[in-house]
Amino acid sequence: MLKEKLRKKIDEHRPRTQELLKNHGNKVIDEVTIAQAIGGMRGVKCLVTDISYLDPNEGIRYRGYTLPEVFEKLPKPEGSEMPFVEGLFYLLLTGDIPGEDEIEEVVVEFKKRRVLPDYVYDVIDSFPSTAHPMAIFSSAIMSLSQESEFNRQYHKGISKMDYWESTYEDVINLLPKLPPMAAYIYAKLYKECVKPEPNPDLDFGGNFAHMMGVDKPYDDVSRMYFIIHADHESGNVSAHTGHLVASSLSDFYLTTSAMLNGLAGPLHGLANQEVLRWLQDARKQMEGKVPNEEEMKKFVWDTLDSGQVIPGFGHAVLRKTDPRYMIQREFALKHLKEDELFQYVDLLYKVVPPILKEQGKAKNPWPNVDSHSGIIQWHYGITNYDFYTVLFGIGRALGVAANIIWDRALLYPLERPKSLTTDMLEDLASKS
Ligand SMILES: CC(C)(COP(=O)(O)OP(=O)(O)OC[C@H]1O[C@@H](n2cnc3c(N)ncnc32)[C@H](O)[C@@H]1OP(=O)(O)O)[C@@H](O)C(=O)NCCC(=O)NCCS
Repeated sequence: MLKEKLRKKIDEHRPRTQELLKNHGNKVIDEVTIAQAIGGMRGVKCLVTDISYLDPNEGIRYRGYTLPEVFEKLPKPEGSEMPFVEGLFYLLLTGDIPGEDEIEEVVVEFKKRRVLPDYVYDVIDSFPSTAHPMAIFSSAIMSLSQESEFNRQYHKGISKMDYWESTYEDVINLLPKLPPMAAYIYAKLYKECVKPEPNPDLDFGGNFAHMMGVDKPYDDVSRMYFIIHADHESGNVSAHTGHLVASSLSDFYLTTSAMLNGLAGPLHGLANQEVLRWLQDARKQMEGKVPNEEEMKKFVWDTLDSGQVIPGFGHAVLRKTDPRYMIQREFALKHLKEDELFQYVDLLYKVVPPILKEQGKAKNPWPNVDSHSGIIQWHYGITNYDFYTVLFGIGRALGVAANIIWDRALLYPLERPKSLTTDMLEDLASKS
C-alpha cells in the first residue's frame, strides 16, 4: 500500500531532519546581499525539498532522476509512448520507481475518487463566459475545501506527527478531480457545455484526453504535459506559494487554489498562453506564411524594442535550454514536424538566443518549457490558448502535493522570513 510505504519512508527520514536541526542548526548555508533582498531573493538558499532539484546547467531532476531517465524508467500504459502520470506521482512521493502493481494501486484509487460533487459544476457554471479559465479552476478547487479531511482531523485535536496522514487523504481526493474539472471548464467556455463522461478503463492522462474529446496521441501529450510540469524545486512562484500557504496549515484545497493563482501570472505559468498570443501576432504580420530568418529576427527585435519580453525564453535559475523544452521538441519532431507553428518555434530556437545575448540583459537566452507547450496543444485542436495554463496547473499540483505531504511529515514550521526597511539597508550600505 502506498500510504504504508510512505509511512515507513517518513519514519526513516524524520531522524535525519531532527539530527540536522539539533546538532547542526547553526551552520551557515548562505549569505544574503542587498541585491537579493530587493531582487526577489534570487539564488538565496533557504528552502528544503527532496522531491526535485534544479541544476542551472542540467535542468530538473525528480527524486534524483533526470527527465529523460524519468520517461525511460516509469512504466507506460499499453500502446503508449508516455508513462503513467500515476507512476510519476508515486515516484515524487516515495522516491522509488513503481512497478506495475504499485501503479495499478494508484490508478484504481484515483479512478474511485475522480467524481466531482454537483456543487463544483455549479461553481463553474456561475462564472461568466468571459472569465479566465485559471480563475474558474482556482475557485472550483477552493470550493472543495469543505471536504478537507485534514480540517476535520485538526479540529478533533490530532497530534502534529499525524498531520501528514489526513493531508495525504486530501491529496488523493483532489488530484484525480483536477482533469475532469479542467475538461468541464473547457467544455463550458469553448464547447457546448456538456459534462464530459469519464472512461472507466482509462488512466489519469488517457481519461483527460478522452474527456477533452481529442484522439490519440493526445493521451500521450497529456501524460507528457502533466509529467514535465509537475515540479521545479521549491522556489518558483507556484511551488513556493503552495509551501507558504500550507505552512499556515491551510488545507490542500486552499493551498492548491493559491498556488494556481501564482501560476496564472505571465512571468510564470501564463507564459505558455503568451507565447501563442505572440506567435499569432507574428503569423498575422507574416500574412500566414512561415517567415524567413531575417523576418523573424526583425519581429523579435520589434518585440524587445517595444519594451516587452520574449515569452518562453529566459529563466530565473536555468542557464541552458530547458530539458522540458527538449522533451516536447522530440515529441514534435516525431509527430508534428510539418506543422506550421512548429516551424515558427523551430526558427525561434535558432534566432532568439543570439538576439537576447546581443541585447545583453537576460541571464539565460535559451527557451524554457512554455516556449513549446502551446503549439503542441494548438496542433491537436486546443486552440483556445487561455486554457493552456490550466494544463500546467494540473501537472504542478502533483509536485506541490508531494511537497506538502512531506512538509507536514517532517514538521516544517510556519514560513516567516524577516523584512528590513530601506533606511536599514542604506544604513548598512553606508557602513561598508
Ligand atoms: C522567466 C523570467 C521572468 C526570469 O526573470 P529574471 O530571473 O529576472 O531574469 P534575468 O535575471 O535574466 O533578467 C534580467 C533582465 O533580462 C530581461 N529578460 C529576461 N528574460 C527575457 C526575455 N525572455 N525577453 C526579454 N528580456 C528578458 C529581464 O526582463 C530583465 O530586464 P530588466 O533588467 O530590464 O528588468 C524572464 O526570463 C522572463 O520574463 N521570461 C519571459 C517570460 C517567460 O517565459 N516566463 C516563463 C518562465 S518558465
